[in-house]
Amino acid sequence: MSTGKTALVTGYTGESGKALVKELVQNTEFKKIILVGRRKVDFTEDGYKQKTEQREIDFDKIDEYAEAFRGADVHFCCLGTTRGKAGAEGFRRVDYDYVVGAARLAKQEGCEHFHLVSSQGANENSYLLYPQVKGQSEAALSKMGFLRLSIYRPAMLMVDRTEHRLFEGIARSIIKHTVQRIAPEWITTPIEVLARAMCYNSFITGRPSVEILDNHAIFRLAEQKPNATADGTKRADEL
Ligand SMILES: NC(=O)c1ccc[n+]([C@@H]2O[C@H](COP(=O)([O-])OP(=O)(O)OC[C@H]3O[C@@H](n4cnc5c(N)ncnc54)[C@H](OP(=O)(O)O)[C@@H]3O)[C@@H](O)[C@H]2O)c1
Repeated sequence: MSTGKTALVTGYTGESGKALVKELVQNTEFKKIILVGRRKVDFTEDGYKQKTEQREIDFDKIDEYAEAFRGADVHFCCLGTTRGKAGAEGFRRVDYDYVVGAARLAKQEGCEHFHLVSSQGANENSYLLYPQVKGQSEAALSKMGFLRLSIYRPAMLMVDRTEHRLFEGIARSIIKHTVQRIAPEWITTPIEVLARAMCYNSFITGRPSVEILDNHAIFRLAEQKPNATADGTKRADEL
C-alpha cells in the first residue's frame, strides 16, 4: 500500500541527483517529487511529467524562497561543486552555505527526514578544504533537530559524467577496470547504488535519528527492502 510520501530533491540536475530522481519516479511509495534547482530541465518521459514539479530558485537568496521548500516529507540533498569549477570560496558557498540553507528551510517547512550526500573522508577538523567543508556541513545539519537525518559518505561516484572533468574521468576509467572489479565497495560507489540506498532508507524504520552511512553501509542499504535494518551504521556521536 502506498504511504504517499512527497520527496524534495536539491541538486537534481547533477549525476547523483538524476539517478535518485529516476529511482524515486519508479518507486510507488513516493506520490510526488518536488525538484528545487537554479534551472529547470525538460522531462519527456510520462512518469517524470506526472510525478515531478520543478521549482526554480536563486540559491544566493535562498531565504526568500521558503515556499519552494514547502510540502515535502523527505528532502534529498545532492548539491555540490568542486574547487576546480567554483574556486575555494565558491566551493564553500555551494557545499556549505547552500546545503545548510536548504536544510534550514526544509526543517522550517516541516520536513521530517533529511538525506545529505556528503563524502568519504568528511572531517570538520581536516586541514584540507574538501573534507573540512563536508564535515562542517554534516556537523551543522546534525544540530538542526530533524526527526531523521541520514548522511551518506560515498566513495568515488561511478558514472559516465555528462560534464567533462579530465582528471576525474581518467581516474574513474582506470579504477573501473581494476579496483572496482576486484573490490567494488572499497573506493567506488555506483550512483545507482547510492540512489537506491537513499530511496529505500526513507522507508526503513528503527534507525538512529542521526546516522552516518559509510560506503559499505550504502551498499548494504541498497540491497535491502524496506522494513529491515541495515548494518554498518554509526550514530554521529559514536564517530
Ligand atoms: N564526484 C565524486 O566522485 C564524489 C564522491 C563523493 C561524494 N561526492 C559528493 O556527492 C554530491 C553529489 O555529487 P555529483 O557528482 O552528483 O554532483 P554534480 O553532478 O556536480 O551535481 C551537483 C548539483 O549541484 C548543483 N549546483 C552546483 N553548483 C551550484 C550553484 N552554484 N547553484 C545552484 N546549484 C548548484 C548542480 O546544478 P547545475 O546542474 O545547475 O550545475 C547539480 O544539480 C556532491 O556533494 C559531491 O561533493 C562526489
